[in-house]
Amino acid sequence: MKIKSICCIGAGYVGGPTMAVIAKKCPQIKVTVVDINEARIAAWNDEDVNNIPVYEPGLGEVVAEARGRNLFFSTDVDGAIDEADMVFISVNTPTKTYGEGKGLAADLKWIELCARQIARVATNDKIVVEKSTLPVRTASTIKSILNHTGSGVNFQILSNPEFLAEGTAVDDLMSPDRVLIGGDQTPEGLNAIQALVDVYAEWVPRDRILTTNVWSSELSKLTANAFLAQRVSSINSLSELCEHTEADINEVARAIGSDSRIGPKFLKASVGFGGSCFQKDILNLVYISRSYGLDEVADYWEQVIKMNDHQKRRFAKKIIRSLYNTVNGKKIALLGWAFKKDTNDTRESAAIYVSDHLLFEQANISVYDPKVKEEQVFVDMDYLNTRSSEENRKYIEVVNDPYEACKGAHAIAVMTEWDEFKAYDWQRIYDNMLKPAHVFDGRNILDREKLKNIGFQVYAIGSAG
Ligand code: UDX
Ligand code: ADP
Repeated sequence: MKIKSICCIGAGYVGGPTMAVIAKKCPQIKVTVVDINEARIAAWNDEDVNNIPVYEPGLGEVVAEARGRNLFFSTDVDGAIDEADMVFISVNTPTKTYGEGKGLAADLKWIELCARQIARVATNDKIVVEKSTLPVRTASTIKSILNHTGSGVNFQILSNPEFLAEGTAVDDLMSPDRVLIGGDQTPEGLNAIQALVDVYAEWVPRDRILTTNVWSSELSKLTANAFLAQRVSSINSLSELCEHTEADINEVARAIGSDSRIGPKFLKASVGFGGSCFQKDILNLVYISRSYGLDEVADYWEQVIKMNDHQKRRFAKKIIRSLYNTVNGKKIALLGWAFKKDTNDTRESAAIYVSDHLLFEQANISVYDPKVKEEQVFVDMDYLNTRSSEENRKYIEVVNDPYEACKGAHAIAVMTEWDEFKAYDWQRIYDNMLKPAHVFDGRNILDREKLKNIGFQVYAIGSAG
């Protein structure tokens, strides 16, 4: 079967970039991305591609090329589902905030709504692809809903997890390490797998397209993220040990990363990992393991999260301790709010938790991030629900100029590894701060010696200095 028309439900960080690249690489396929969020769709349709809702290097160009040709953004969810041969589900699956599995399991409400909508609307056979990160066995839920419509329409369910990392999404999509497609091992299932393989084969070498059964595909996604997060927690755990010894975490990371079995990537000590996936996926893994009575397995992975929480807390405590155990009324500048550089995504960003901790101590926080909007900072803080929205606005300010953020501050905390931070005029920043002026480099990106020579007190994750 040759796919002619694709619909993607969910125009977020995954759906938007993925569909833009499919549309670019497959001009013969009509790709329609739909969302119930009208403002988001309007932003994707903004004439000026600088205003699309997801910031990713290179994405604007891809959208500009394909949009209006074979890439469309729309709020007509029903119409797009009906027209498509293949429907991707790419809606958000946050961790549950209520009921059974609260704080651990993924909330599948949105997925189920999508499945019901597809079931209601479809008038011809369709391949449904789960693209969101989902707990193992979600495909069976979707299948069960779709197969009980009584409409005579046949559905094949595929799992096609996304491995793109934010900030490098376009490159990751254009030349992926691998594409993973899981489906039923029946003749119909294998046909559906082949149809999706043919889409990716337009630009991905065939040997990088892996096919498996559905469950392996679903579990592989959780496992990949758990392994990556585990590396970060492992190096972060040792960063604390380094701070108590003469070892330096950057040197340790380089030394172990040179072992080809370990490899150099994902060994950068930091204030803690963030992002929408790592924590959620591990919590899912923990939840699933516990539900099968596998407590040792669950405990093992849970420790990765505990270590990450510890790292964020310890960073905030370090700031407070260094400022003579009180930050009450002191201005602290946060450089960066996004969970990593080159994205405007702030979900689970360490900056949120560090700020929360500092606000408990009644600090005044000034935030600068090159891509995150002021309102997002307050949305994130209000979402924590630890204090009123008025209080958040009273103690946090968000500014458009980094020099303004640092002016009159006692300390600067680097929360995101944006490249531009390295190029600042640090002498000028120092001259306008209260003394002693502190820098807490939560990303190990600044030139420590240079800052010390200027006069800063410098703390960098993972070194005693
Ligand atoms: C991750 C996976 O990499 C991707 O394959 C999956 O599809 C989605 O989840 P993402 O969350 O976008 O991608 O970013 P990633 O680059 O993995 O970084 C996650 C977090 O770990 C960030 O906060 C980052 O700053 C942190 N990190 C990463 C470190 O602290 N140190 C490192 O060495 C690497
Ligand atoms: P991700 O990082 O997984 O892409 P996002 O939150 O960025 O997550 O995007 C998910 C998108 O899915 C949101 O824009 C949301 O409005 C959309 N969405 C959720 N449920 C539905 C639904 N039933 N129909 C259409 N869009 C939906």
